[in-house]
Amino acid sequence: MSDRRQFLKIALTAAAGVAVGGVKASAETGPFPSGVVYTESDSGMWKKKVGSHLPQVSVDGDKVIIETRHGMSSDHYIVRHTLVAGDGTVIGSKVFTPEGKPISSYAIPGKGCYFATSFCNLHDFWVTKFTI
Ligand SMILES: [Fe+2]
Repeated sequence: MSDRRQFLKIALTAAAGVAVGGVKASAETGPFPSGVVYTESDSGMWKKKVGSHLPQVSVDGDKVIIETRHGMSSDHYIVRHTLVAGDGTVIGSKVFTPEGKPISSYAIPGKGCYFATSFCNLHDFWVTKFTI
């Protein structure tokens, strides 16, 4: 397993957050100190950034949609989304440019626990854990 994948798997066990639109949100704490992974309940130094950085999750049929309500400019933008299953399997990811919109969608392989991630070039790595 790659270091990146192992990091994601471990990091996501620390995640918590909110999801909307037919998915169940959950909150839990993990082994990481504030400042590694940001969630709704652990936004650390970015407390005022939750609304614009926490991945918003909705389900439309057999697809999960991840949106980050964040502006996009060449100096400040959302770099990437990832959808990861509860066992650490990466379902998919999307890389954004400053000209793009931070919205992505993925086919859901089945019911279970998932993690939506969003990375801002200035405000770090955010995670929303949800169950379908
Ligand atoms: Fe940001």
